[in-house]
Amino acid sequence: MALPAAQVPVLTLLARAVRARRALEVGTFTGLSALVWAAAVGPAGTVVTVDAVGDGVARLGAAAWAAAGVDAVIDVVTADGLAELFRRAAAAAGEAGAWDVVYVDAAKGRVGAYYEVGLALVRPGGLVLIDDITWSGRATAAAAAGGGGVAGGGGGGEEAAALRAVAERAAADPRVVTMTVVAGDGLLVALKL
Ligand SMILES: C[S@@+](CC[C@H](N)C(=O)[O-])C[C@H]1O[C@@H](n2cnc3c(N)ncnc32)[C@H](O)[C@@H]1O
Repeated sequence: MALPAAQVPVLTLLARAVRARRALEVGTFTGLSALVWAAAVGPAGTVVTVDAVGDGVARLGAAAWAAAGVDAVIDVVTADGLAELFRRAAAAAGEAGAWDVVYVDAAKGRVGAYYEVGLALVRPGGLVLIDDITWSGRATAAAAAGGGGVAGGGGGGEEAAALRAVAERAAADPRVVTMTVVAGDGLLVALKL
């Protein structure tokens, strides 16, 4: 699913609040969130958007980026998102602490690992953002059901449990200050201290 329109001003404000110049996202799809980051970081900024599937961007995102005049700012990487972030966080790649924003909008079952590598990649004062944190209420329902998922939930149990777990971990994490923005399907915001 594409970024909900209600989240466009949220992402814009967050990026501007931390004076983001470098944004790294996982989950390109329509290219809308990448467009938002590109507009926020400005022409001297950098946006890297990672997706396991590349051709969706060619059809949907690239034309919009060109029309908005931001295509030069955006670098598309076709790869598994978690592997790409771990590669960038490795010492040899030199990108630990080099990002202002890491935004995850993919692979909900692995958000715990994304959270940790995201924290390694952002600078102090930077943001790790995890989209769909309420997962249409299923993350909350997973907790009520004992963390294991939702009966009859159509296969969302593993993702729901992972989203709930990362929200709880972030809330208790002394490395960050967190909040959940109730827009779209919920956005976990973790500010690295
Ligand atoms: C919810 S959509 C992203 C929406 C996008 N932010 C937008 O504004 O349109 C999720 C995307 O994550 C990608 N994806 C799923 N699993 C992935 C993985 N393991 N690594 C990288 N991308 C993945 C899918 O191909 C899909 O394009």
